[in-house]
Amino acid sequence: MTLPAGFERAMARDRDAVDARLQAIATARVSDHPRIGEALVYALAAGGKRIRPLLCLWTHDLCAGRENAATRAAALEAACAIECVHTYSLVHDDLPCMDDDDLRRGRKSLHRQFDEATAVLTGDALLTLGFELLGSVDVPATVALETIRVLAAAAGTGGLISGQALDLELTGKPDTTRVEVVERIHERKTARLIAAAMETGAVVAQPGDAGIRERARRAGLMAGSAFQIVDDVLDMTGDAATLGKTPGKDRQAGKRTYAAAVGTAAALEAARERVAQALRELPEAAGTPLAGLFDFVAERRR
Ligand code: IPE
Ligand code: IPE
Ligand code: MG
Ligand code: MG
Ligand code: MG
Repeated sequence: MTLPAGFERAMARDRDAVDARLQAIATARVSDHPRIGEALVYALAAGGKRIRPLLCLWTHDLCAGRENAATRAAALEAACAIECVHTYSLVHDDLPCMDDDDLRRGRKSLHRQFDEATAVLTGDALLTLGFELLGSVDVPATVALETIRVLAAAAGTGGLISGQALDLELTGKPDTTRVEVVERIHERKTARLIAAAMETGAVVAQPGDAGIRERARRAGLMAGSAFQIVDDVLDMTGDAATLGKTPGKDRQAGKRTYAAAVGTAAALEAARERVAQALRELPEAAGTPLAGLFDFVAERRR
């Protein structure tokens, strides 16, 4: 994988900015309720890859330019809102009634560190917080409303919720794995939120070329599909120390995964093809950190 010049530096810089802002946001909530506040600080602590915030920020930068854009601070706030919604989905995904995972981001999952009720409430708090942040972003009200609509559609029953519901319904059922079924689950539970991250970056940038927003969304669906295919592969091939989560859970639980349906080599090939398709949707990203992030999605080890 040859990453564009400056990719690592841009990634570290913007990830640090996201981490710092998320900690400030969480810490400001501790006085509302000490235990939930402490759980928010725990959930939003550094350790996530912050792929969705980076996709949001770098799509913004592609549309508006990084250095001069008056909208850069607003894009950072929107990026943090998306990470709050993503983090909520992980907290709930790990619950005993869902995937029952003890390890997340190299630490105890939230219900193991605290308790189940705290994890349910902290997930609820993170989801709500994401929309509070979007409602407060410093952009024209019509633009803020649009970001809210985009994120709500991705996180709601047309996206993440039905994806997670389908995933759970098919878990442990006799294996009639068809790759189209897996694709439908992946698109809903993962790809639509990743597409929303990119679309939101474009919405906040308010580009002159309105078409770029739709192309960013389509590129996000491709990158998101690749992202979940690789997640499924890593569950089969990764180790706990690198992944920061327990490997082998999907097979143990009887999950429908892309890798189980077609094998890990063909799955990785499909992920690479989708990432190439993402760049074809958004050719102006070539050579920018955003294109590097697409490659990172396909080649990552965690
Ligand atoms: C994990 O997402 C859940 C999936 C959709 C596969 P990430 O792999 O982005 O998790 P973090 O945020 O880096 O921990
Ligand atoms: C998670 O998929 C998708 C979400 C919406 C959270 P997984 O269940 O495969 O994610 P991990 O492997 O637990 O991170
Ligand atoms: Mg799951
Ligand atoms: Mg899981
Ligand atoms: Mg997984």
